[in-house]
Order: sequence, then C-alpha cells, then structure tokens
Amino acid sequence: MFDIKDRVIVLTGATGALGGAIALSLAKAKGQLIVLGRNQDLLEVLLKKLTPFASVQAYAVNVMDRDDLIRVKKEIVKQYDRIDVLINAVGGNLPGAVIPDDKSVFDLSESDFDEVVDLNLKGTLLPSLVFGEVMSQKGKGSIINYSSMAVDRVITRVLGYSASKAAMENFTRWMAVEMALKFGDGIRVNAIAPGFFIGKQNKDLLLNQDGSLTERGEKIIRNTPMKRFGEAEELNGPIHFLCSDSASFVTGIVLPVDGGFSAFSGV
Ligand SMILES: NC(=O)c1ccc[n+]([C@@H]2O[C@H](COP(=O)([O-])OP(=O)(O)OC[C@H]3O[C@@H](n4cnc5c(N)ncnc54)[C@H](O)[C@@H]3O)[C@@H](O)[C@H]2O)c1
Repeated sequence: MFDIKDRVIVLTGATGALGGAIALSLAKAKGQLIVLGRNQDLLEVLLKKLTPFASVQAYAVNVMDRDDLIRVKKEIVKQYDRIDVLINAVGGNLPGAVIPDDKSVFDLSESDFDEVVDLNLKGTLLPSLVFGEVMSQKGKGSIINYSSMAVDRVITRVLGYSASKAAMENFTRWMAVEMALKFGDGIRVNAIAPGFFIGKQNKDLLLNQDGSLTERGEKIIRNTPMKRFGEAEELNGPIHFLCSDSASFVTGIVLPVDGGFSAFSGV
C-alpha cells in the first residue's frame, strides 16, 4: 500500500537533520532519489550513506534562486521526464528573528525577520513552482512541506519562524486547492508538522552541554503527553504515506507528528 519504488523524488534540505533521515528511508524503499543541498561536501557525505541502497543523484542548489532550481529541473526532466514527489525540507531560523527572554518584540531585527520569512515561505514556494509545474504537465504528483508546532499556538521567542511557517501552511492549503481545481485529482499538496526533534537549529535551546534538559526543554517535555522528543526516523512513515498512492484522496492537510503536543492543553 505504501510502495514508492521507482518514484522520482526530489528532496530539498537533504543534508539537514530531518532531511537526511528521510533521504535514507526513501533510498531504502528504492525511490529514484534526487537530493538537493547547499553544500557540496555535505552532499558527498550524504551520497556515501545512500548509494548502498539506491542510485541517487545530488545537486548543490540554492532554493532561493529560481534559475538555479530551473537548471536542476531541466536535468531531472531530461533523465526521467517526470517528477513524482517533491519534499521541501529546507527551513530554518536566525538569531535576530528570535526574541530572547531578556529582550522584547521591539528589539526585533527587521532584516533577520525578512530573511527567515523568505527562507521558510519562499524556500518552499519556489521549488513548488519550479518542480510542481512538471507535475501539473503530467497531472500527477505529491508535494510535502515541513510545518511546525509554532503555527497553531504561540511558542515564545521564535517570532519570525512562527509567522513564516504559518504563511507556509496557508500556502500548502492554497496550492493543494489550486492544483486539484486546475490540474486534476492526481496532484496532492500536504505538510507534516513535526513536534520537537533535536536538530542543529534547536539543540542548544533544548539540551545543556551535559545532555540534560534546559528549562525550555523541560517545558516542552511537560507539554508532550509521550514525555520525550521525537526521533527523526519517526517522521519517515507519515512521509512515505503522503508520498504513496495510499494518500490518493488526501490533500491540503497538515499532519502533526508530535507525541500528542498539539492535542494537549497542558492540564
Ligand atoms: N528539527 C525540528 O525539531 C523541527 C521541528 C519542526 C519543523 N522543522 C522543520 O523541518 C525542516 C527540516 O528541519 P531540520 O531540523 O532538518 O533543519 P536543518 O537546519 O538541519 O536542515 C535544513 C537544511 O536546509 C538547507 N538550506 C538552508 N537554506 C538553504 C538554501 N537557501 N538553499 C538550499 N538549502 C538550504 C541547510 O543547508 C540544511 O541542510 C525545516 O523546515 C524545519 O523548520 C524542524
């Protein structure tokens, strides 16, 4: 039911913590994987992990550069003549768009805010336009975006990140409707919303040097009914589902994978 063998899958942010985990899982499931990252050296390291399981191609590309994305799209279309799945795992944060406890919203860096909005919104929008256009021509495809727990309820500090992921969620629904109405029922656009996973972006916020929880880490665990952080691999099953034909009538959703965080009032 969840077979994705030979699906042509484009993955952005593949050298990241969560991107790397899904890349390995898709390679093991024998997808035709095209991994995109910014840093050629990190891509080489990733390729070594993936190639024992599947033939994988890697491209160094800046997802904020439409021409760069079009260059890669042309290569993919030349080889496969289709793109079945796009996974948009690029995303991130910047210090000036975060409001530390000893400062207030009035200290916000407008330029960092703009950059974070660009990264999380346009970093998903542009690949969706460039690679999604190939799907529109074929009438088939699945796009999967990465949202966050910071959208539905306020999580302190991460102002720019929250606003940009909220906009990206809205874009996910908008694009789902647009694709279905104009290009048919074969194209789906969804997102997953990971709860709290230890990654490069949040490690220092959640864990002390000795591995114990920071005050913020403790608050998160207190509000997660399963009482632990997620493991990156726990996102793989939900993503495989959204890639596969099992999800043929699923579009415009944001699927929480969060150990119950979004369901819990904290009481
Ligand atoms: N880790 C978590 O707990 C968590 C929770 C919720 C949502 N998310 C979201 O999941 C996604 C993946 O998170 P992650 O933890 O793997 O992040 P990460 O920082 O480990 O990886 C992000 C990747 O995106 C790449 N990238 C950044 N800017 C780029 C650009 N302009 N062009 C090309 N590549 C670029 C980076 O090089 C990096 O490899 C992100 O959207 C993140 O916001 C993560």
